[in-house]
Amino acid sequence: MSSVPATARLPDRVLRHAGELLGARCGLRFHSGNRELLEEGLSRAARAEGCQPGELLDRLEAAPPEDDSLLQAVIRHVTVGETYFFRHPEHFQLLEQHLVPALRRARHKARELRAWSAGCASGEEAWSLAMALSVAAGPDFPVSVLGTDINKAALQTARAGEYGRWSVRSSMSAPPGQLHPGPDGGVTVARSLRRRVRFTYLNLRDPIYPSLLTATQGLDLIFCRNVLVYFFPEAARAVLERMRDCLADGGWLVVSGLDLSLAPPGLEVVTFGATAVLRRRVEERVEPVRPAAPRPRVITPTATLRAEPPSPHYSEAKRAADEGDLERAVELARRAVNDERSPRTLHLLGLVLSERGETAETLQLLRETVARAPDYVLGHLGLGLHEAETPPTRLEHLRRVTTLLAQRRDEELLAGPDPLPVAWVRKMAAAAIKQVEDAR
Ligand SMILES: C[S@@+](CC[C@H](N)C(=O)[O-])C[C@H]1O[C@@H](n2cnc3c(N)ncnc32)[C@H](O)[C@@H]1O
Repeated sequence: MSSVPATARLPDRVLRHAGELLGARCGLRFHSGNRELLEEGLSRAARAEGCQPGELLDRLEAAPPEDDSLLQAVIRHVTVGETYFFRHPEHFQLLEQHLVPALRRARHKARELRAWSAGCASGEEAWSLAMALSVAAGPDFPVSVLGTDINKAALQTARAGEYGRWSVRSSMSAPPGQLHPGPDGGVTVARSLRRRVRFTYLNLRDPIYPSLLTATQGLDLIFCRNVLVYFFPEAARAVLERMRDCLADGGWLVVSGLDLSLAPPGLEVVTFGATAVLRRRVEERVEPVRPAAPRPRVITPTATLRAEPPSPHYSEAKRAADEGDLERAVELARRAVNDERSPRTLHLLGLVLSERGETAETLQLLRETVARAPDYVLGHLGLGLHEAETPPTRLEHLRRVTTLLAQRRDEELLAGPDPLPVAWVRKMAAAAIKQVEDAR
């Protein structure tokens, strides 16, 4: 007797269309081995949206860039969000026994250790990292962890920090006092841990990392496990290249075993017994992948960012920020601002202060960038995204971004502490406009 499929088979044409869209937008690869995941996920997403799968794809393709609700609806159903605390305990043991001790030796003075859980799903990996790092690093090295994912619903769960029993099924347990017992065998993360971890949306396909804006520069440790296995190899390779540039010298990148073979130059495979991880080579710095070749034109605001080279203090401050030494970056950026109150310099100081949680001064600095240079797009974007600004002021700045970029080509790069692509800035501004308007 043949089994009845849970979902009627979708035409190849529809699956091809879905595969192309998800490949281009998210790097995801669907093949005969995971055809069912796509087929069933797409059918579920279409049912939830009250339409046919083919129609859902047409609507998704036609949706304006600021509206990612349909993409989210599909992502939720076609990606694998499986995760739990201390998954692959061997990586956490390695972290405590080798990776953190090596980082402590390499960093000449005590400073914050900065880690990223990329593709963190509902957050268990990011919380686990914060716990393991805090224990291994000791009191001299405070720890901060960034958790990012493309799935916004999963990020909401991550931020809530409350989990069911299934999330604590690892053979490795949390250090005492970090996970409080919750109902039905579940857990809640300790308040002290919440200060160390921040969750934000980031599509690994977007060319926006490393950057100060996404707090993905100068990292000591990146965990990107069980993510790239679902990507096209070229897309996975591009992600690894960017991650290499996100690491400070000697920083570690922990990926799933199969991804190791995709490591680009500048990352070396380091083996500890049966487990291998990647390390950013110290001796050779590879030319960063941004801007992508052929080098796109960088737009500088007419009134300001002169083509002349930045001051030595600015360059040193940027280098310190790119190496993850935020304390020194603040000190040098202040000197750079004393040398020259240009938008780029003010913005750099604002970004490093913001990463250190000093957002009130960041706001003042961003305001000064646009007062001095009314066409400084990234200043307007920063103000439009700043939650301390009022909704009408945020909208004013975000609309200014849209106007300033109206005639610009998608692939052009905007000058600022990190060159950011016009397409992405435009999308960010449009999405923020929608969010602020919806909340009113
Ligand atoms: C299997 S989970 C891995 C969770 C965690 N890293 C672990 O190993 O336990 C894979 C995650 O990758 C995310 N993902 C897939 N494509 C992505 C993309 N283009 N950008 C960011 N995250 C993505 C999915 O949303 C999902 O949450």
